[in-house]
Amino acid sequence: MTGPLIKVDKLTRDFDVSKPWLNRVIEREAKQYLRAVDDVSFEIKKGETLALVGESGSGKSTIAKMLVGLLKPTSGTVLFDDQPMRMDTSDNMQQLRKRFQMIFQSPFASLNPRWKVSDIIAEPMVVLGVEKDRNKIGKRVDELLDLVGLSEKDGNKFPHEFSGGQRQRIAIARSLSSNPEFIVCDEPTSALDVSVQAQILNLMRDLQDELGLTYLFISHDLSVVRHMANRIGVLYLGALVEVAESKTLFQKPKHPYTRMLLDAVPDLEMTNRMRKEITGEIPNPINPPSGCTFHPRCPFAEERCKIEKPKLLIAGSGAAACHLVEDGLLST
Ligand SMILES: Nc1ncnc2c1ncn2[C@@H]1O[C@H](COP(=O)(O)OP(=O)(O)OP(=O)(O)O)[C@@H](O)[C@H]1O
Ligand code: SF4
Ligand SMILES: [Mg+2]
Repeated sequence: MTGPLIKVDKLTRDFDVSKPWLNRVIEREAKQYLRAVDDVSFEIKKGETLALVGESGSGKSTIAKMLVGLLKPTSGTVLFDDQPMRMDTSDNMQQLRKRFQMIFQSPFASLNPRWKVSDIIAEPMVVLGVEKDRNKIGKRVDELLDLVGLSEKDGNKFPHEFSGGQRQRIAIARSLSSNPEFIVCDEPTSALDVSVQAQILNLMRDLQDELGLTYLFISHDLSVVRHMANRIGVLYLGALVEVAESKTLFQKPKHPYTRMLLDAVPDLEMTNRMRKEITGEIPNPINPPSGCTFHPRCPFAEERCKIEKPKLLIAGSGAAACHLVEDGLLST
């Protein structure tokens, strides 16, 4: 295969956040929309990990849900192996559905507490019709438990009998049961202790090597994505402000927002940067700032930044959306 496995083009999602109809009529207010994802485009090659980072509310989960067909884009497209992702039950989509899975943040909420672990793990295999023979399903579940570092006996237990890290192992085993090629991981370790986090991240990397998986890895934490991702996309208020190879992003961040995020990462060698707090609040997405939406927090902002919206311009293997970067006025 030569082309990218995932191709996201101008993906945009608005949410209707209007008051109830009667209140709007009485208060003479128009409908209100919140743009959670704003014109986002990226590609992921087979076997690659692309990470998306951004503060809370930057649109990470909304992108994830659109990628796996859980949420309909307002506009834009997602292509999986050149086929459009749709929210329907057509034969084509059923076939496509087997090829991707999603792992969610909370290993507590995402596992049905009343189901035995073996049934939880078998579910995608059964629902997607990957395997029908009960013996084969049982055998596969045992293999999956082993693959994620649990024992066959664990299949007879219930989720509440496991720690957070073990539950995330169960969630990983479930996501693998339909033999997917692509897995969207939405903050898979952020609910876990740091030491457990590292074990789960290592497991995910090993599984990627072993099974040739492609990941979209979502996190608010740059130090977590650093060791997971080949490339990193930085989101701010629903828009991509920088995309770069992982190493380049840490060594030579371009966008002022990426610099701000990096400055706040504790104990990060490689960058001789002073530790600084992230300053300023994220603006209200219902009423985003004009021009460059980062301008109220940007230490380099100029007059034009308040008026003109910068484009994400591709430069080498990276890209940044900033007027000053575009004009070569910010040194790295
Ligand atoms: N169903 C919805 N209705 C209205 N607004 C929504 C809905 N889902 C998300 N939003 C808004 O869209 C924006 C993006 O939300 P999203 O959950 O994608 O962010 P996130 O980056 O995943 O944040 P977090 O790090 O907190 O998980 C936020 O402003 C959020 O309030
Ligand atoms: S466009 Fe202006 S406000 Fe936006 S990041 Fe660049 S310098 Fe800062
Ligand atoms: Mg989220």
